[in-house]
Amino acid sequence: MSKLFEKISLGNLELKNRTIRSATWEGMCDKDGKPTEKLVKLYEELAEGEVGLIITGYTYVSPEGQQLPGMMGLHKDENIDSIQKMVDRVHAKGGVIAVQLVHCGGQADRRTSGLKPIAPSAIEFPSYREIPEEMKKEDIKRVIEDFALAAERAKKAGFDAIQLHGAHGYLINEFLSPLTNKRTDEYGGSLENRTRFLKEVILAIKEKVGEDYPLFIKLNGDDFLEGGFSIREAVKVSKWLENWGISLIEVSGGSPASKEKKPMRANIDAPQKEAYHKELSLEIKKAVSQISIAVVGGIRSFEVANELLEKGYADLVSFSRPLISEPSLIKRWKEGDLRKAQCISCGECLLAGIKEGGIYCVAQKKGKI
Ligand SMILES: Cc1cc2nc3c(=O)[nH]c(=O)nc-3n(C[C@H](O)[C@H](O)[C@H](O)COP(=O)(O)O)c2cc1C
Repeated sequence: MSKLFEKISLGNLELKNRTIRSATWEGMCDKDGKPTEKLVKLYEELAEGEVGLIITGYTYVSPEGQQLPGMMGLHKDENIDSIQKMVDRVHAKGGVIAVQLVHCGGQADRRTSGLKPIAPSAIEFPSYREIPEEMKKEDIKRVIEDFALAAERAKKAGFDAIQLHGAHGYLINEFLSPLTNKRTDEYGGSLENRTRFLKEVILAIKEKVGEDYPLFIKLNGDDFLEGGFSIREAVKVSKWLENWGISLIEVSGGSPASKEKKPMRANIDAPQKEAYHKELSLEIKKAVSQISIAVVGGIRSFEVANELLEKGYADLVSFSRPLISEPSLIKRWKEGDLRKAQCISCGECLLAGIKEGGIYCVAQKKGKI
């Protein structure tokens, strides 16, 4: 059997294989942040498609932390019921599902949230629509509590795990990066200080949901921005994360401000272009021993996916766009049809999702694949 289909345990959570549906905003929740039937059906399809772990689209923890319409919200108790029903249906199909918690910080969008974005520092930044308000100490405390309360709601709703969004220029990454964190108090300056917000979020979550509830993070191995968060710092942070009880680091890179190295790259049309974050995940994997490492970004062929595991670049592999066009890709591979994913990495799924209120594979609809 190929390594891709071996079981793996993340803390006390067992997965039937080493594949992950990386967090993917679908734009399929209502204006209160509750899932629609369309979203539930999509997750059921992913569970039937035998992906080892489904991670939901980024889910906001505070009202002002919302960016795109149709995001899921765990910012209030009223959403627990409908989310729990969704989770139950995924479990009934044999799926394992984690929720990705986010505060979008300076990348949040007032046109969606109706509120002024907040961030570590009030600066202009290429990926900000407006200059955000600098977070006061009370804001920091409140958002940490919002993460913890959202985590508690996630556990009540029956999610198997939580993933923090610590990548792609959102609030946690904004604190980590010296480019967006210009603070002079204990939350800015040294790496230790820039990591304090993340540490306090983790501790507050653990206090609410317990030490044993699986907690993961998606982390940039590098921001790919001059003077930004880099692999050297990511390695140090990863070692700390291991001590703080994180059981999976999913390694990504870049942000909307990174020019040619954004998290979602185009034209992945040859095996050498695939897995474009594998060197970052290798560095991080070498630095930790107790926790598992997943890698995301441009993985399209079975051979590349399997080799990443065989050669020790990662313990799990994650897919976003390939599972939009083919939710049952993993099942297809398992059944022996090893042709690479159909996805042509055009990125139209995201643009159409924003314009038309929900993602789908545009290339497929246009008959290009
Ligand atoms: C439509 C769309 C929505 C996305 N939403 C999220 C998200 O909510 N959270 C996240 O961490 N990454 C998100 N991403 C990034 C993906 O998880 C992934 O990191 C990136 O697309 C590279 O992987 P891929 O080549 O397998 O698509 C999104 C990507 C796409 C295409």
